Amino acid sequence: MPCTVIVGAFWGDEGKGKISSYLALKDKLDFCVRTGSVNAAHTVWIDGKKYALHMVPAAFINPKTRLLIAAGANVDVKTFFSEVEQTNVQSRIAIDQNASIIEEKHSAADKASAVNRGIGTTGRGVGPAIEERVRRTAKLAKDLPELKGYITDQVQEVNDGLDAGKNVLLEGTQGFMLSLFFGTYPYVTGRDTGAAAICSEAGVGPTRVDDVLIVYKSFMTRVGAGSLPGELTKEEAQKRGWFETAAGTGRDRRSAPFDFDLAKKTAKINGATQAALTKLDSLFPTCKGARKFDVLPNEAKQFIKEVETQTGIPVVLIGTGPEALEIIDRRK
Ligand code: IMP
Ligand code: MG
Repeated sequence: MPCTVIVGAFWGDEGKGKISSYLALKDKLDFCVRTGSVNAAHTVWIDGKKYALHMVPAAFINPKTRLLIAAGANVDVKTFFSEVEQTNVQSRIAIDQNASIIEEKHSAADKASAVNRGIGTTGRGVGPAIEERVRRTAKLAKDLPELKGYITDQVQEVNDGLDAGKNVLLEGTQGFMLSLFFGTYPYVTGRDTGAAAICSEAGVGPTRVDDVLIVYKSFMTRVGAGSLPGELTKEEAQKRGWFETAAGTGRDRRSAPFDFDLAKKTAKINGATQAALTKLDSLFPTCKGARKFDVLPNEAKQFIKEVETQTGIPVVLIGTGPEALEIIDRRK
């Protein structure tokens, strides 16, 4: 803090929602800006209740945090209203005037496209909506009467906030290996998902950022097509307790062991200064619910040390369970 960017290291679903919600409470976030779009779902567990959020920033669990949707984001209006109601954030959420709109025709095109089906897109219309924006024919948030009352200048709000010393979190979505530029093209999403692009979508200049927090999961998962180094069979994934289904689409996630070379590469290209490591309890079940580093078994400590050695950055947050507060916080 004051300005931190959260970026996913692999193919999304690293647990960015959990980290964002924890920081909202712990660091008393003043602003949280969600980038990207509804192809991503951020899961938040608080007091035994689960939220899978496609539009509302995961930081909503702090009632004092101002919630913003980035200028570079793509808005699905129906999902936005349904999540605003579900999270009861009417009085403190707004969308940047220039965010663009996903229409019914975009999700229809996404689902109908043979190429997109081959890639295994989420079918939420995000790629076609971005295409339309690039053609300069997209509708923007400020053009929609139903969004009146939710429109703001997110870019100005956040930059003024930073001038005033407020805490700002830029919530990245998806994972770096899904980046249009740096991922496993053509099996990627329709945007750059890296830290620099997150800043760009939110209109925050690179010199204003204090920390880039890269989120690793203790193993890797991927939905949709494209390579996954070290991929396990579903049976093996189930045996290890790593089998997951997607929070957004319900599809099976493929899984693989943590890849240190990939972790090193993604830390470097994103300029990461800090790392979070989630789901440590999936590798070492006795870690479940731990709140202190000292109580972890030696093999878990070794694994964390190895991540730090190979990536060259400190693992400051360690997830030990799904709840927002099930975390070991090693920051001073
Ligand atoms: P699209 O983003 O819907 O166009 O899908 C492109 C690829 O990215 C597909 O393989 C999707 O499964 C994957 N993808 C997109 N968003 C996410 C995400 O938030 N988590 C995991 N995979 C995603
Ligand atoms: Mg997700």
